[in-house]
Amino acid sequence: MIPQVLEKEILKLKKSLNAVILAHYYQESEIQDLADFVGDSLDLSRKAASTDADVIVFCGVHFMAETAKILNPNKPVLLPDLLAGCSLSDGCPPHLFKKFREEHPNHVAITYINCSAEVKALSDIICTSSSAEKIINQIPKDQPILFSPDKNLGAYLKKKTGRDMLLWNGSCIVHETFSERKLIGLQLEHPDAELIAHPECEDHLLSKAKFIGSTSALLKYVQTSERKKFIVATEAGILHQMETTTKGKTFLPLPPEENCACNECPHMKRNTMEKLYLCMKHKSPQIEMNADLLQRALKPIQRMLEMS
Ligand code: 13P
Ligand code: SF4
Repeated sequence: MIPQVLEKEILKLKKSLNAVILAHYYQESEIQDLADFVGDSLDLSRKAASTDADVIVFCGVHFMAETAKILNPNKPVLLPDLLAGCSLSDGCPPHLFKKFREEHPNHVAITYINCSAEVKALSDIICTSSSAEKIINQIPKDQPILFSPDKNLGAYLKKKTGRDMLLWNGSCIVHETFSERKLIGLQLEHPDAELIAHPECEDHLLSKAKFIGSTSALLKYVQTSERKKFIVATEAGILHQMETTTKGKTFLPLPPEENCACNECPHMKRNTMEKLYLCMKHKSPQIEMNADLLQRALKPIQRMLEMS
């Protein structure tokens, strides 16, 4: 199907299903353009919690759609490609996370939303990159904390909050590929450009950034800054909103070390317009979870929504 027809068919299906299309900033630009709402993980969870649509179509990765399902157990939640995973989630299997918790029984477990529903169910509070600092600051100072699964975000939060948290050893395959060597090259070529970064990046990059924040925070920063040029250290999909919502500003994606497209998340990019159309047409694939897991994973997500 040609792109214009595909878009028309998706919008028709959206109407007939009374569906809402939620998309993350790392989705391809065509998907972002037709979504009802584009946001970061926290905004998307909030939208999923408050929607009155009959069907939720989630253009993001599996843990995001799963969170929408946990918040809406009675609604179908469609994900264009069920294999759209996340290296952080994959690197934190529930049985090992359970062991980690058992080894530290006095610690409260604050877990980044980039994890499976089973790991959420084993956690006390879920957080996103935009809510983590606020949540950690509400935990009594004498209460030890386990932070999982992103060691880079965890290390950044330790510095920001002054809390000595125990960290799970996980990372994002995209945010770990950025090249410091190429950053220096870009900075020499564009001395007027400011480096902005997602906190999933490694410390050596974060320490050079002028601004650090979630995808939404990065977008807001470039929209309101006086600066005209930015080097962006996060998944390249965010550049679409940066370019379309600002005027006369230049955005340079920070390249990975290798000559590859590794600054694009291969999981996020599994979703395509074609798959979006097909999942809405067939009401499949859907997120399926058993009632017990739905219930157990809900509490720590609700805590996040209350505390953020
Ligand atoms: P945000 O919450 O900043 O959108 O991050 C989601 C994510 O997966 C980053 O890699
Ligand atoms: Fe997971 Fe990284 Fe992709 Fe975000 S960019 S979904 S953290 S693999």
